[in-house]
Amino acid sequence: MCGIIAYTGYRDATSILISGLRRLEYRGYDSAGIALLTRGKIRQIKAEGKLPNLVNKLPEKLPGKTGIGHTRWATHGIANDENAHPHSDADGHIALVHNGIIENATELRKDLIEKGCQFSSDTDSEVLVHLICQYLSDSSSLISLVDAVRQALLKVRGTYGLAVINKATPGEIVAARNGSPVIIGIGDKEMFVSSDSSAIVSYTKEIVHLEDGELAHISAGGFSLSTLNSQPLTRTSTTLDIDVESLEHDGFPNFMLKEIFEQGDSIERTLRGRLDRQFNTSKLGGLNLSARELLDVKRIKILACGSAYYAGICGANIIEQYARIPSSAEPAAEFRYRNPIIEFDTLYIVVSQSGETYDTLAALREVQRKGGRVLGINNVVGSSIAREVDGGIYMHSGPEVSVASTKAVNSMLVAFMLLAVNFGRVRDISPQGGAKLLDALESLPQLCRQTLSLAPVIEKLAKKYSKVNNAFFIGRTDAYPVALEGAQKLKEISYIHAEAYPSSELKHGPLALVDENTPTILVLPDNNLLEKSLSALHEISARNGKTITVTDSSHPSILELSTDVITIPSSHALIYPVIMNIALQLFAYYSAIDLGRNVDQPRNLAKSVTVE
Ligand code: BG6
Repeated sequence: MCGIIAYTGYRDATSILISGLRRLEYRGYDSAGIALLTRGKIRQIKAEGKLPNLVNKLPEKLPGKTGIGHTRWATHGIANDENAHPHSDADGHIALVHNGIIENATELRKDLIEKGCQFSSDTDSEVLVHLICQYLSDSSSLISLVDAVRQALLKVRGTYGLAVINKATPGEIVAARNGSPVIIGIGDKEMFVSSDSSAIVSYTKEIVHLEDGELAHISAGGFSLSTLNSQPLTRTSTTLDIDVESLEHDGFPNFMLKEIFEQGDSIERTLRGRLDRQFNTSKLGGLNLSARELLDVKRIKILACGSAYYAGICGANIIEQYARIPSSAEPAAEFRYRNPIIEFDTLYIVVSQSGETYDTLAALREVQRKGGRVLGINNVVGSSIAREVDGGIYMHSGPEVSVASTKAVNSMLVAFMLLAVNFGRVRDISPQGGAKLLDALESLPQLCRQTLSLAPVIEKLAKKYSKVNNAFFIGRTDAYPVALEGAQKLKEISYIHAEAYPSSELKHGPLALVDENTPTILVLPDNNLLEKSLSALHEISARNGKTITVTDSSHPSILELSTDVITIPSSHALIYPVIMNIALQLFAYYSAIDLGRNVDQPRNLAKSVTVE
């Protein structure tokens, strides 16, 4: 999905658009572009590839106080200059940036071409330009830009977050939303539009969220909201609670390493004020669930995508183990499209760092549409998912910019641990048992810092193995989702093909691929399944497979059979997945760095996907 930004006011729009696009680039980096209203004309500059390509193309002087910008994650049409946004009509009347997918673009395009429109790109988004121009140029009635956009949008099916400027009405911007996030930033004699708050927080903290089916008519002096059916709307603004500093590298070479090393602090933030020592349980003020309702919960279903889904599998294990409620996790889009049976005594939990992942948002809406109750675990205050769930937990990890999720995944796990304690103390966990779990959680930030000090050891190992083409990750029961996330991290940023299996499954097939060129990373906690798990180590070393065992156990067989060992700090069984995750994040990070990869912006990926 893409990032859009727009500005109208008294300042030089170019620098505001470019600095905004720099903050939005984690949403897509296939191409970028801006369009400005300058000297009564629309001037458009766009370039394939990352933002520096665009910046290098900018003329020295590009005056203009109103403009729009875009950074692209290609869905329709390859990454090239023509398909880069903004898109404009042949006569340069309007320019438009779009984040989303127009599902009926093909038929609209055919119709528009028959009416003589000239298309200059292969994108679905360009149909919006020609549709709007159709209404603007309709001589039978003088129509405003906002109404022309409205008429055009009544014709389209799909998702959009968009902004449009018109050379006939300098200083005016129209924005609209359906599915993709759009924020209006309110300044003093200036206004901003953006896909997320990080792009405008250095200019204003006063914002308004557009909801689905809404349009905003914006000028430097202010804005008005209305629906697709022309109903006027009013909305109070909210104040952003993020500071610009947290969006900087803070002395680290990139965001990923910064976010990995932040985890002692970010987990402290996730735990802050949530350990209730009076009743030895967790305090979760946002659940909107009474103890009575909690007791009625017979099942838990977790829905998410990507790393959030793997955190969900781990979370389901933790809740089942400690709160004794049958729990499971499922990829959100799979759940949504298999026409699920929604049960009143099942509690649904959607998990999303960004709170904007469309597959997860749509699954949430499907459950609510069928009468289900949905909690959210989310990191971005005021995100779409946060605004639509029935209750939830904010992770407070702080902004996560690097595309591959690290600190947010672990804050998700901590949120699940807090939920397990909360639900468990309403059921079978005794006050003493609760106290022990709170002790474990309290010890976690320090254990994270201890694990981070292993970075040099892990870096050396990662360099040793970074040239392999394939790798396996294995783990048993609650170590399996840790293996899944470990494989995900290595794939995402190093592009090494990695697969994860339950240890017990290796001998039923994947073992065929084990050889001296395919290392296996074993996630081996020192628990009651250690002996069982050692059998996989035996099977692999018997076939000269290389093994890297990540463990807190000092069992002699581990040293004897493993090619390499990463010894992590021992901890309570509740919290070890967080510690294991950190070790595997560092392994993936240093493998990717050794291969010269761009860890913050891995190829083909984006931070949160707001399209299906
Ligand atoms: C992908 C990101 O686009 O979305 C992953 O690259 C992330 O890192 C996944 O895990 C889900 O995102 P979110 O924001 O819903 O947790």
